[in-house]
Amino acid sequence: MQEVYLDNSATTKPLTEVIDYVSKVLTNNYGNPSSLHNKGLAAEKIIKEARNLIAAYLKTNPEEIYFTSGGTEANNLAIRGVCYNYSNRGKHIITTEVEHPSVKETFLALEEEGYEVTFLKADQQGYISIDKLVQTIREDTILVSIIHVNNELGTIHSISKIAELIKKSNSKTFFHVDTVQSFGKVLLLPADWGIDLLTISAHKIHGPKGIGALYVKKGIDLKAQIIGGGQENGLRSGTENVPGIAGFIPALKKLPEYTVEKPYDLSVNKLKNYFIEKITQKCPTAHINSPQEGAPHIVSISFPGARGEVLVHGLESEGVFVSTGSACHSKSHEKSHVLRAIKLPPEKIDGTIRISFSRYNTRQEINYAISKISEQLKLYF
Ligand SMILES: Cc1ncc(COP(=O)(O)O)c(C=O)c1O
Repeated sequence: MQEVYLDNSATTKPLTEVIDYVSKVLTNNYGNPSSLHNKGLAAEKIIKEARNLIAAYLKTNPEEIYFTSGGTEANNLAIRGVCYNYSNRGKHIITTEVEHPSVKETFLALEEEGYEVTFLKADQQGYISIDKLVQTIREDTILVSIIHVNNELGTIHSISKIAELIKKSNSKTFFHVDTVQSFGKVLLLPADWGIDLLTISAHKIHGPKGIGALYVKKGIDLKAQIIGGGQENGLRSGTENVPGIAGFIPALKKLPEYTVEKPYDLSVNKLKNYFIEKITQKCPTAHINSPQEGAPHIVSISFPGARGEVLVHGLESEGVFVSTGSACHSKSHEKSHVLRAIKLPPEKIDGTIRISFSRYNTRQEINYAISKISEQLKLYF
Protein backbone atom coordinates (compact mmCIF):
# COMPACT_ATOMS: atom_id res chain seq x y z
CA MET A 1 0.00 0.00 0.00
CA GLN A 2 1.19 3.49 -0.80
CA GLU A 3 2.08 5.72 2.18
CA VAL A 4 1.31 9.41 1.94
CA TYR A 5 2.44 11.47 4.91
CA LEU A 6 0.49 14.73 5.13
CA ASP A 7 0.99 15.54 8.81
CA ASN A 8 4.12 17.65 8.46
CA SER A 9 2.99 20.27 10.97
CA ALA A 10 2.92 17.59 13.66
CA THR A 11 6.38 16.44 12.68
CA THR A 12 8.42 15.75 9.57
CA LYS A 13 10.22 12.65 8.39
CA PRO A 14 13.94 12.99 9.20
CA LEU A 15 16.15 13.28 6.13
CA THR A 16 18.42 10.31 5.38
CA GLU A 17 21.38 12.67 5.84
CA VAL A 18 20.06 13.50 9.33
CA ILE A 19 19.75 9.85 10.34
CA ASP A 20 23.22 9.04 8.97
CA TYR A 21 24.87 11.99 10.67
CA VAL A 22 23.17 11.44 14.04
CA SER A 23 24.26 7.82 13.93
CA LYS A 24 27.84 8.81 12.99
CA VAL A 25 28.01 11.33 15.82
CA LEU A 26 26.60 8.84 18.35
CA THR A 27 29.23 6.34 17.23
CA ASN A 28 32.28 8.60 16.99
CA ASN A 29 31.62 11.87 18.75
CA TYR A 30 30.29 10.75 22.08
CA GLY A 31 32.48 13.11 24.07
CA ASN A 32 31.04 15.60 26.52
CA PRO A 33 31.45 19.08 25.02
CA SER A 34 32.62 20.31 28.44
CA SER A 35 35.54 17.84 28.51
CA LEU A 36 38.98 19.25 27.86
CA HIS A 37 40.29 16.37 25.71
CA ASN A 38 39.78 16.15 21.99
CA LYS A 39 36.63 14.01 22.21
CA GLY A 40 35.10 16.95 24.05
CA LEU A 41 36.45 19.43 21.54
CA ALA A 42 35.03 17.39 18.64
CA ALA A 43 31.58 17.49 20.24
CA GLU A 44 31.91 21.21 20.90
CA LYS A 45 32.82 21.76 17.24
CA ILE A 46 29.53 20.14 16.18
CA ILE A 47 27.57 22.46 18.47
CA LYS A 48 29.44 25.45 17.09
CA GLU A 49 28.70 24.46 13.50
CA ALA A 50 24.98 24.04 14.19
CA ARG A 51 24.82 27.35 16.06
CA ASN A 52 26.61 29.11 13.20
CA LEU A 53 24.24 27.59 10.63
CA ILE A 54 21.12 28.66 12.53
CA ALA A 55 22.53 32.15 12.99
CA ALA A 56 23.46 32.40 9.31
CA TYR A 57 20.00 31.22 8.24
CA LEU A 58 18.32 33.75 10.53
CA LYS A 59 20.89 36.46 9.73
CA THR A 60 21.69 36.89 13.43
CA ASN A 61 24.82 36.31 15.54
CA PRO A 62 25.76 32.82 16.80
CA GLU A 63 26.03 34.21 20.37
CA GLU A 64 22.29 34.96 20.18
CA ILE A 65 21.31 31.28 19.62
CA TYR A 66 20.67 29.00 22.62
CA PHE A 67 19.89 25.30 22.26
CA THR A 68 16.92 23.85 24.13
CA SER A 69 15.07 20.53 24.16
CA GLY A 70 12.63 21.83 21.54
CA GLY A 71 10.03 24.45 20.80
CA THR A 72 8.13 23.91 24.03
CA GLU A 73 11.15 24.57 26.23
CA ALA A 74 12.26 27.55 24.12
CA ASN A 75 8.78 29.10 24.44
CA ASN A 76 8.79 28.52 28.21
CA LEU A 77 12.29 29.97 28.54
CA ALA A 78 11.50 33.08 26.50
CA ILE A 79 8.26 33.87 28.31
CA ARG A 80 9.20 32.96 31.88
CA GLY A 81 12.73 34.25 31.33
CA VAL A 82 11.44 37.73 30.52
CA CYS A 83 8.71 37.73 33.17
CA TYR A 84 10.96 36.68 36.05
CA ASN A 85 13.75 39.08 35.12
CA TYR A 86 11.78 42.17 34.25
CA SER A 87 8.82 42.05 36.68
CA ASN A 88 10.20 45.19 38.36
CA ARG A 89 9.12 47.07 35.21
CA GLY A 90 5.59 45.68 35.27
CA LYS A 91 3.56 42.49 35.25
CA HIS A 92 1.34 42.95 32.23
CA ILE A 93 1.89 40.44 29.40
CA ILE A 94 0.03 39.96 26.12
CA THR A 95 -0.54 36.99 23.86
CA THR A 96 -3.29 35.68 21.56
CA GLU A 97 -6.08 33.13 21.85
CA VAL A 98 -4.59 31.10 19.01
CA GLU A 99 -1.18 30.17 20.38
CA HIS A 100 0.33 26.71 20.62
CA PRO A 101 -0.32 25.16 24.08
CA SER A 102 3.35 25.67 25.04
CA VAL A 103 2.70 29.42 24.95
CA LYS A 104 -0.93 29.43 26.06
CA GLU A 105 -0.34 27.24 29.11
CA THR A 106 2.75 29.22 30.12
CA PHE A 107 0.72 32.44 30.10
CA LEU A 108 -2.06 30.77 32.10
CA ALA A 109 0.49 29.56 34.66
CA LEU A 110 1.95 33.07 34.93
CA GLU A 111 -1.56 34.46 35.41
CA GLU A 112 -1.89 32.15 38.42
CA GLU A 113 1.41 33.55 39.70
CA GLY A 114 0.04 37.10 39.64
CA TYR A 115 0.91 38.38 36.18
CA GLU A 116 -1.87 40.20 34.35
CA VAL A 117 -2.49 38.52 31.01
CA THR A 118 -4.33 39.88 27.98
CA PHE A 119 -5.37 37.21 25.46
CA LEU A 120 -6.06 38.94 22.14
CA LYS A 121 -9.04 37.60 20.22
CA ALA A 122 -8.67 36.29 16.68
CA ASP A 123 -11.03 36.71 13.72
CA GLN A 124 -12.53 33.85 11.69
CA GLN A 125 -9.25 33.24 9.92
CA GLY A 126 -7.04 33.41 12.99
CA TYR A 127 -5.75 36.98 12.63
CA ILE A 128 -5.55 39.27 15.64
CA SER A 129 -6.46 42.93 15.31
CA ILE A 130 -3.25 44.94 15.27
CA ASP A 131 -5.17 48.07 16.33
CA LYS A 132 -6.48 46.21 19.35
CA LEU A 133 -2.97 45.05 20.20
CA VAL A 134 -1.67 48.61 20.11
CA GLN A 135 -4.53 49.80 22.35
CA THR A 136 -3.70 47.03 24.81
CA ILE A 137 0.00 47.87 25.29
CA ARG A 138 0.65 49.85 28.48
CA GLU A 139 3.53 51.36 30.40
CA ASP A 140 3.79 48.15 32.47
CA THR A 141 3.57 45.71 29.51
CA ILE A 142 6.80 43.75 29.60
CA LEU A 143 6.13 41.10 26.96
CA VAL A 144 4.08 40.39 23.84
CA SER A 145 4.18 36.85 22.41
CA ILE A 146 2.56 36.15 19.04
CA ILE A 147 2.67 33.05 16.87
CA HIS A 148 4.04 33.65 13.35
CA VAL A 149 2.44 30.80 11.36
CA ASN A 150 -0.48 29.24 13.18
CA ASN A 151 0.00 25.48 13.57
CA GLU A 152 -3.67 24.64 13.09
CA LEU A 153 -4.68 27.14 10.42
CA GLY A 154 -1.54 28.33 8.65
CA THR A 155 -2.51 31.97 9.27
CA ILE A 156 0.60 34.19 8.92
CA HIS A 157 0.83 37.18 11.20
CA SER A 158 2.51 40.28 9.87
CA ILE A 159 5.37 40.16 12.34
CA SER A 160 7.43 43.10 11.07
CA LYS A 161 4.42 45.40 11.23
CA ILE A 162 3.44 44.12 14.68
CA ALA A 163 7.01 44.55 15.98
CA GLU A 164 7.17 48.11 14.70
CA LEU A 165 3.90 49.05 16.40
CA ILE A 166 4.81 47.36 19.68
CA LYS A 167 8.07 49.31 19.86
CA LYS A 168 6.26 52.56 18.95
CA SER A 169 3.78 51.99 21.77
CA ASN A 170 6.36 50.98 24.36
CA SER A 171 10.01 50.68 23.37
CA LYS A 172 10.71 48.62 26.50
CA THR A 173 8.19 45.85 25.72
CA PHE A 174 9.88 42.64 24.57
CA PHE A 175 8.49 40.81 21.55
CA HIS A 176 8.65 37.01 21.40
CA VAL A 177 7.58 35.09 18.30
CA ASP A 178 6.88 31.36 18.11
CA THR A 179 8.25 30.53 14.67
CA VAL A 180 8.18 26.75 15.03
CA GLN A 181 5.84 26.47 12.04
CA SER A 182 7.44 29.21 9.95
CA PHE A 183 11.17 28.57 10.32
CA GLY A 184 12.35 27.13 7.00
CA LYS A 185 8.86 27.44 5.51
CA VAL A 186 8.43 31.18 4.99
CA LEU A 187 10.70 34.23 5.05
CA LEU A 188 11.90 35.08 8.55
CA LEU A 189 14.20 38.03 9.34
CA PRO A 190 14.27 38.50 13.13
CA ALA A 191 16.81 41.30 13.28
CA ASP A 192 15.32 43.33 10.39
CA TRP A 193 11.80 42.83 11.67
CA GLY A 194 12.55 43.84 15.28
CA ILE A 195 11.94 40.49 17.00
CA ASP A 196 13.55 40.15 20.43
CA LEU A 197 13.06 36.44 21.05
CA LEU A 198 12.24 33.65 18.61
CA THR A 199 11.58 29.93 18.97
CA ILE A 200 12.49 27.16 16.51
CA SER A 201 12.35 23.36 16.57
CA ALA A 202 14.33 20.83 14.48
CA HIS A 203 11.67 18.15 14.03
CA LYS A 204 9.50 20.44 11.91
CA ILE A 205 12.29 20.81 9.33
CA HIS A 206 13.16 17.12 8.81
CA GLY A 207 15.57 17.09 11.75
CA PRO A 208 15.39 15.06 14.98
CA LYS A 209 12.91 15.48 17.82
CA GLY A 210 13.93 16.87 21.20
CA ILE A 211 16.10 19.70 19.94
CA GLY A 212 15.22 23.33 19.35
CA ALA A 213 16.66 26.76 19.87
CA LEU A 214 15.83 30.19 21.15
CA TYR A 215 17.11 33.36 19.51
CA VAL A 216 17.69 36.00 22.18
CA LYS A 217 18.61 39.43 20.88
CA LYS A 218 21.88 40.70 22.34
CA GLY A 219 21.33 42.73 25.50
CA ILE A 220 18.25 40.84 26.71
CA ASP A 221 18.82 39.15 30.02
CA LEU A 222 16.61 36.12 30.61
CA LYS A 223 16.20 34.28 33.89
CA ALA A 224 17.44 30.74 33.31
CA GLN A 225 14.80 28.08 33.89
CA ILE A 226 17.14 25.10 34.14
CA ILE A 227 20.17 25.71 36.29
CA GLY A 228 23.21 23.59 36.96
CA GLY A 229 26.50 23.33 35.08
CA GLY A 230 26.08 26.62 33.26
CA GLN A 231 26.00 25.31 29.68
CA GLU A 232 24.64 27.56 26.93
CA ASN A 233 26.22 30.57 28.57
CA GLY A 234 24.36 29.87 31.79
CA LEU A 235 20.94 30.16 30.18
CA ARG A 236 20.26 26.45 29.81
CA SER A 237 22.23 24.06 31.93
CA GLY A 238 22.54 20.36 31.16
CA THR A 239 24.96 18.39 29.01
CA GLU A 240 24.18 19.40 25.46
CA ASN A 241 22.14 17.05 23.26
CA VAL A 242 25.03 16.63 20.83
CA PRO A 243 23.37 14.00 18.58
CA GLY A 244 20.22 16.13 18.37
CA ILE A 245 22.19 19.28 17.66
CA ALA A 246 24.20 17.35 15.06
CA GLY A 247 20.95 16.24 13.41
CA PHE A 248 19.99 19.88 13.04
CA ILE A 249 23.00 20.41 10.72
CA PRO A 250 21.95 18.46 7.57
CA ALA A 251 18.36 19.68 8.03
CA LEU A 252 19.57 23.30 8.12
CA LYS A 253 21.82 22.79 5.11
CA LYS A 254 18.83 21.61 3.07
CA LEU A 255 16.50 24.49 3.96
CA PRO A 256 15.41 26.63 1.03
CA GLU A 257 16.45 30.28 1.14
CA TYR A 258 13.63 32.81 0.90
CA THR A 259 13.63 36.44 -0.14
CA VAL A 260 11.16 39.33 -0.06
CA GLU A 261 10.41 38.51 -3.72
CA LYS A 262 10.05 34.78 -3.04
CA PRO A 263 8.95 34.52 0.61
CA TYR A 264 8.03 30.80 0.56
CA ASP A 265 8.35 27.61 -1.47
CA LEU A 266 6.24 28.15 -4.57
CA SER A 267 5.98 24.43 -5.35
CA VAL A 268 4.54 23.66 -1.90
CA ASN A 269 2.05 26.49 -2.32
CA LYS A 270 1.04 25.06 -5.70
CA LEU A 271 0.45 21.66 -4.10
CA LYS A 272 -1.73 23.29 -1.45
CA ASN A 273 -3.79 25.21 -4.00
CA TYR A 274 -4.14 22.11 -6.15
CA PHE A 275 -5.35 20.13 -3.13
CA ILE A 276 -7.89 22.82 -2.19
CA GLU A 277 -9.20 23.10 -5.76
CA LYS A 278 -9.65 19.34 -6.22
CA ILE A 279 -11.09 18.57 -2.78
CA THR A 280 -13.64 21.38 -2.97
CA GLN A 281 -14.68 20.17 -6.44
CA LYS A 282 -15.19 16.65 -5.13
CA CYS A 283 -16.82 17.76 -1.90
CA PRO A 284 -18.63 21.09 -2.39
CA THR A 285 -19.76 21.25 1.26
CA ALA A 286 -16.13 21.27 2.45
CA HIS A 287 -15.15 24.45 4.23
CA ILE A 288 -11.56 25.72 4.16
CA ASN A 289 -10.73 27.33 7.50
CA SER A 290 -7.26 28.52 6.48
CA PRO A 291 -6.87 31.94 4.88
CA GLN A 292 -6.15 31.87 1.15
CA GLU A 293 -2.91 33.79 1.72
CA GLY A 294 -1.90 31.47 4.59
CA ALA A 295 1.29 29.44 4.84
CA PRO A 296 1.98 27.15 1.89
CA HIS A 297 2.12 23.99 3.97
CA ILE A 298 -1.05 24.03 6.14
CA VAL A 299 -4.73 23.54 5.25
CA SER A 300 -7.46 23.22 7.83
CA ILE A 301 -10.59 21.80 6.23
CA SER A 302 -13.99 20.98 7.71
CA PHE A 303 -16.37 18.40 6.34
CA PRO A 304 -19.66 19.20 8.12
CA GLY A 305 -21.39 16.01 9.24
CA ALA A 306 -18.18 13.97 9.24
CA ARG A 307 -16.00 13.18 12.26
CA GLY A 308 -12.36 14.24 12.05
CA GLU A 309 -11.17 11.41 14.26
CA VAL A 310 -12.97 8.76 12.22
CA LEU A 311 -11.60 10.30 9.02
CA VAL A 312 -8.04 10.23 10.40
CA HIS A 313 -8.33 6.52 11.19
CA GLY A 314 -10.13 5.70 7.93
CA LEU A 315 -7.40 7.45 5.96
CA GLU A 316 -4.66 5.81 7.98
CA SER A 317 -6.04 2.41 6.96
CA GLU A 318 -5.46 3.54 3.35
CA GLY A 319 -1.90 4.74 4.08
CA VAL A 320 -2.74 8.46 4.26
CA PHE A 321 -1.59 10.28 7.40
CA VAL A 322 -3.32 13.51 8.41
CA SER A 323 -4.35 15.10 11.68
CA THR A 324 -7.53 16.26 13.35
CA GLY A 325 -7.31 19.98 14.25
CA SER A 326 -3.86 19.87 15.80
CA ALA A 327 -1.60 17.04 16.96
CA CYS A 328 -1.49 18.59 20.40
CA HIS A 329 -5.21 17.98 20.75
CA SER A 330 -5.64 14.64 19.06
CA LYS A 331 -5.32 12.69 22.29
CA SER A 332 -7.52 15.04 24.25
CA HIS A 333 -11.30 15.06 24.03
CA GLU A 334 -11.43 18.82 24.35
CA LYS A 335 -12.22 20.66 21.14
CA SER A 336 -9.32 22.63 19.68
CA HIS A 337 -8.98 26.01 21.45
CA VAL A 338 -7.86 27.56 18.15
CA LEU A 339 -10.93 26.39 16.21
CA ARG A 340 -13.11 27.57 19.10
CA ALA A 341 -11.31 30.92 19.16
CA ILE A 342 -12.12 31.50 15.48
CA LYS A 343 -15.74 30.64 16.32
CA LEU A 344 -16.03 27.61 14.11
CA PRO A 345 -19.38 25.99 14.94
CA PRO A 346 -19.04 22.72 16.94
CA GLU A 347 -20.28 20.53 14.05
CA LYS A 348 -17.58 21.99 11.81
CA ILE A 349 -14.92 21.56 14.50
CA ASP A 350 -15.87 17.89 14.81
CA GLY A 351 -15.45 17.40 11.07
CA THR A 352 -12.10 19.19 10.78
CA ILE A 353 -8.85 17.68 9.59
CA ARG A 354 -5.52 19.37 9.07
CA ILE A 355 -3.48 18.51 6.01
CA SER A 356 0.13 19.68 6.16
CA PHE A 357 2.59 19.33 3.32
CA SER A 358 6.34 19.19 3.03
CA ARG A 359 8.51 20.13 0.09
CA TYR A 360 8.99 16.41 -0.53
CA ASN A 361 5.29 15.65 -1.22
CA THR A 362 4.34 15.08 -4.85
CA ARG A 363 1.24 15.78 -6.91
CA GLN A 364 0.76 12.03 -7.32
CA GLU A 365 0.60 11.71 -3.52
CA ILE A 366 -1.94 14.51 -3.33
CA ASN A 367 -4.10 12.80 -5.98
CA TYR A 368 -3.94 9.57 -3.98
CA ALA A 369 -4.90 11.39 -0.77
CA ILE A 370 -7.80 13.20 -2.47
CA SER A 371 -9.20 9.95 -3.85
CA LYS A 372 -8.97 8.34 -0.39
CA ILE A 373 -10.57 11.32 1.36
CA SER A 374 -13.44 11.22 -1.18
CA GLU A 375 -13.91 7.50 -0.59
CA GLN A 376 -14.04 8.03 3.17
CA LEU A 377 -16.56 10.85 2.81
CA LYS A 378 -18.82 8.62 0.69
CA LEU A 379 -19.30 6.53 3.83
CA TYR A 380 -21.09 9.55 5.33
CA PHE A 381 -23.06 11.06 2.49
C1 LIG B 1 3.59 26.53 16.80
C2 LIG B 1 4.28 25.52 17.65
N1 LIG B 1 4.97 25.93 18.72
C3 LIG B 1 5.62 25.08 19.52
C4 LIG B 1 5.60 23.73 19.27
C5 LIG B 1 6.32 22.80 20.20
O1 LIG B 1 7.54 22.37 19.64
P1 LIG B 1 8.22 21.03 20.17
O2 LIG B 1 7.41 19.90 19.63
O3 LIG B 1 9.61 21.08 19.57
O4 LIG B 1 8.24 21.10 21.64
C6 LIG B 1 4.88 23.23 18.17
C7 LIG B 1 4.77 21.78 17.90
O5 LIG B 1 3.83 21.30 17.32
C8 LIG B 1 4.21 24.16 17.33
O6 LIG B 1 3.51 23.77 16.27
